Amino acid sequence: MQPAPDYATEFAGRVALVTGAASGIGLAIARRLAAGGAAVSLADLDEDGAQRAADQLTEQGARAVAVALDVTDPASVEAAVQSTADRLGALHLAVNNAGIGGPVEPTATYPPDAWHRVIATNLDGVFHSLRHELPAILASGGGAIVNMASSCAVNGFAGVAAYAAAKHGVIGLTKTASLEYAARGVRINAIVPGFIDTPLLADADENQRKRLIRLHPAGRLGLPEEVAETAAFLLSDRASFTHGSAHHVDGAYAAQ
Ligand code: NAI
Repeated sequence: MQPAPDYATEFAGRVALVTGAASGIGLAIARRLAAGGAAVSLADLDEDGAQRAADQLTEQGARAVAVALDVTDPASVEAAVQSTADRLGALHLAVNNAGIGGPVEPTATYPPDAWHRVIATNLDGVFHSLRHELPAILASGGGAIVNMASSCAVNGFAGVAAYAAAKHGVIGLTKTASLEYAARGVRINAIVPGFIDTPLLADADENQRKRLIRLHPAGRLGLPEEVAETAAFLLSDRASFTHGSAHHVDGAYAAQ
């Protein structure tokens, strides 16, 4: 019989970088990886939020650091990856999760400046992150990367042209990079969350929330911890033959 994994230690000796780790899904992933024994670098535009979260993990006995990061700026991404490797000694795991929603507006009137901001964060940000994470992970002997996509990466969603275009791009980027690095010891996968109850949905009023819930046959929004559990699986050796995939965590949203 194959032994069951020890979830409390499966990331021991591994160093993980999580972008957008001050809030929501990224924070839940950072906590989950730390609970599995990883040393975690929490990177975010919200430096204070990342520091608070890192302090909390440190108090709980984890090894955690906060790093200032703007994923739209290649120099900032390079510095964050370097700082992580310098302070924690290596880089094995990365979660490219930082993202923004943007306005809700039909395509013909979607503001071009918002288009560029959303693409710069949600798509260019993943590209810049991969460019700097991959050499660091290879130098550390290999590992795994998870890119955060969205149901809007496989379905259209009226009013969010830039967000849907960026997230569709994340899937293409994930598949392509996974082909390039599969034989070199880096597995790269994506997660496709449905609507998850995080601050990203803070602007939704009660009626909008009910509408969002109705999109999910499971009858509710997802929890950040449910996405974190899938990220932990994909980053662990339990997923050792899983490359270039897009994992739905969406209450059957995309199955319709
Ligand atoms: P959130 O708003 O709670 O957290 C996003 C984090 O990213 C924040 O801490 C923010 O400061 C950080 N961030 C934003 N721009 C950044 C930048 N330029 N550089 C570095 N950090 C930056 O959002 P949530 O819900 O946790 O979203 C995380 C990811 O999951 C995003 O990529 C989002 O598109 C994706 N997602 C979220 C869904 C949801 O319903 N909440 C559904 C599907 C995907």
